[in-house]
Amino acid sequence: MDNRPIGFFDSGLGGLTSVMELHEALPNEKVLYFGDTARTPYGSKSPETIREFAGQIVDYLVSKDVKLIIIACNTVTAMALDDLRARYPDVPIYGVIGPVVRKVVSDGCRNVGIIATKATISSDIYAKKIKELDPSIETYSLACPAIVPLVEEGFTDTEIMEKTVEYYMDSFVKENDFDNLILGCTHYPLVADHIRKLYPDLTLYNSSAEVVNELKEYLTENDMLAGPNEFQDRYYASDLSDNFIAMTDIMFKDRDSKIKLVKFEN
Ligand code: DGL
Repeated sequence: MDNRPIGFFDSGLGGLTSVMELHEALPNEKVLYFGDTARTPYGSKSPETIREFAGQIVDYLVSKDVKLIIIACNTVTAMALDDLRARYPDVPIYGVIGPVVRKVVSDGCRNVGIIATKATISSDIYAKKIKELDPSIETYSLACPAIVPLVEEGFTDTEIMEKTVEYYMDSFVKENDFDNLILGCTHYPLVADHIRKLYPDLTLYNSSAEVVNELKEYLTENDMLAGPNEFQDRYYASDLSDNFIAMTDIMFKDRDSKIKLVKFEN
């Protein structure tokens, strides 16, 4: 048994979709979440900048004695997972890309669309990882850079968001032949209802959820599950935006938690 919290981080709110999955699957687990709200979005930044920011956050989480870290951000996973694992070889660090890739392959998908940030799509990491496991699977990729800033600004459940999703995805869906779609950004589960409404025939795969399925297996096999405990979940952000406070309140209203501002020196 290990009652230490699990460290999560994202450029902002997106990783909260992974935390939601964790609470659902393993309610005893406590969370120390870091959202880099002062510097979001990451998806249009250079690999060097993303690696620098990610390094600062992982240093911080490690200093708080987390038992494991989930990089709840596809962009950071694509740009920095190997570096971060090399920096902390003794801390288990999970990315969100491997688990959802393994899931589409094990489900026997023959064709897969991928939507993600500019940085993730430019890295081509999804197509490469899928083809490493099964070269015969067809992949189609699309960057949707405006979705993250709109989520961070609180436009998730609006017509503007629906139109934005349609603007990006319409010709992508109509001109390519795929039935499965990876939400390759942890912000995108928050707009999944718009995608389902516009494209009801697509089967959606969620990177935020699949990492939690693999995490559950890992914690069980390594006897690291938390037992019942009194710890509070902690949500830290580099800027306490109204939307960050509102979202954590709405999403986790049944849990005992606290929010705190944490600033890094640049
Ligand atoms: N949630 C992050 C991801 O999964 C968004 C990155 C960004 O800030 O653009 O890629």
